Amino acid sequence: MNGTHINDRALLKGKTALITAAASGMGRAGARLFAAEGAHVILVDLNTAGAEEVAAEIVAGGGSAEAHGVDLRDQTELDRFLDTVRSQHDVIDVLHNHAGITGPRELEFDAASWNECMTLNAWVPAYLTQQFLPLLRRSDAASVIFTASTAGVRGVAGLPVYAATKGAVIQFMKSLSLLLAPEGIRANAICPGGTDTAGMRAAFQEGAVDASLSAIATTIPLGRVGQPEDIATVALFLASDASKYMTGTVIPVDGGATV
Ligand SMILES: NC(=O)c1ccc[n+]([C@@H]2O[C@H](COP(=O)([O-])OP(=O)(O)OC[C@H]3O[C@@H](n4cnc5c(N)ncnc54)[C@H](O)[C@@H]3O)[C@@H](O)[C@H]2O)c1
Repeated sequence: MNGTHINDRALLKGKTALITAAASGMGRAGARLFAAEGAHVILVDLNTAGAEEVAAEIVAGGGSAEAHGVDLRDQTELDRFLDTVRSQHDVIDVLHNHAGITGPRELEFDAASWNECMTLNAWVPAYLTQQFLPLLRRSDAASVIFTASTAGVRGVAGLPVYAATKGAVIQFMKSLSLLLAPEGIRANAICPGGTDTAGMRAAFQEGAVDASLSAIATTIPLGRVGQPEDIATVALFLASDASKYMTGTVIPVDGGATV
């Protein structure tokens, strides 16, 4: 995004949107897009400098943003962050619970690695939603978005722990959507397939990244790996009133990989 150019028809004009893991990849693409559509964006990330850089870029382009450096796995830091946001904002219209880690491979888990993955991928989204509910209730069109994964819907031999955490977050989201529907608060999940981010690239051996991405692309009906913007546009749809009759849905954004 070079220059924000917010217009009268901007989809998120006047709204406040909080996005976790907003310093890179899909979260960054979402932050830029939400800001371009008129939202004030609260960026949260372990990478403080990265989040600040994205926020500064948004502000320089005429948008509105703030950055918070938080290790969401750390309960003390998490609670301090909640207090900070609550002291600065009355309303949150969009909560995009996007942060997640891949966690241990195959059956190489122990209690610590299982709990770390479950904490960031399932506890943090549930806890943020619970704690921000009073602010979401003050919105006239609140939307909670969860980044799950196609791994939360189908099995993945190499990542059973990750798949379990994403399955958990999908079931939490579905139950939450029923619980909050009477109040008009919506909840939906995006399930990205393989998407070209730093996180995904880190999973491949050095020197073999492009070849690995090309190999994955041949397995995808649309013939390419997802780009961060492919996910951000769906997040924008779920954040906006364009999806106002949708709640409890699980949306694959995977180029047809799970058809
Ligand atoms: N990339 C994919 O192929 C893919 C596919 C399906 C789902 N997802 C999901 O998308 C989300 C983003 O994944 P990614 O790895 O591709 O993104 P990424 O590698 O582009 O970015 C991850 C961001 O999360 C931040 N982060 C990591 N741990 C954190 C913590 N403890 N507290 C705060 N911030 C933290 C990092 O600093 C980084 O900015 C995750 O929920 C992931 O499970 C990714």
